[in-house]
Amino acid sequence: MAQSAKATLLEKEAKAVLLCKFCQKNSKGVLVPGEGSSSAKLVFVGEAPGKNEAITGKPFIGRAGKVLDNLITIAGQKREQVFITSAVKYLPKNYITPKPEDIKHGRKHLFAQLDIIKPQLVVLLGNVAVQTVLGRTLPVAQHHGTMLQENGQTYFISYHPAAPLYNPKLKIIIEKDFKALKKLL
Ligand code: URA
Repeated sequence: MAQSAKATLLEKEAKAVLLCKFCQKNSKGVLVPGEGSSSAKLVFVGEAPGKNEAITGKPFIGRAGKVLDNLITIAGQKREQVFITSAVKYLPKNYITPKPEDIKHGRKHLFAQLDIIKPQLVVLLGNVAVQTVLGRTLPVAQHHGTMLQENGQTYFISYHPAAPLYNPKLKIIIEKDFKALKKLL
């Protein structure tokens, strides 16, 4: 598909998220469809927007976003080259981890975006991204830093960028994952 057609479809999908009644009903703030290049080779999938994202509508701009920016650099990429989104496109009203119904709904929007971009690699950041995309739990603590192929798509598993903010010992571990990711690209 031509790049301009992909960009148009991706824009249309972002609008579908913004108009989605289910997302609106469950959201604490502004909806956050995701952003980045329609020709991205890499798509990063987080969990759900945080407070800063739910104010601005932009993904990963808070503290976890700073960590992600550094990880993207470690992987040898630029933020504008990749596509960044989350499994769930809204900050759930109760501020806690998305529930199964949030994940089930988020899958619909996320797969629509992945079907348009058709990236070389999808980076699953944390357990909620893994659950949403693979449809099952695969503990990140055991599987981080590894690739897997499923349904014609290649995935790379790592921790959520907020993880080292809560557990500083994970910083070096998550950075090692992204150094490994650079070698895989
Ligand atoms: N965490 C996420 O998973 N996504 C964001 O956009 C911000 C924080």
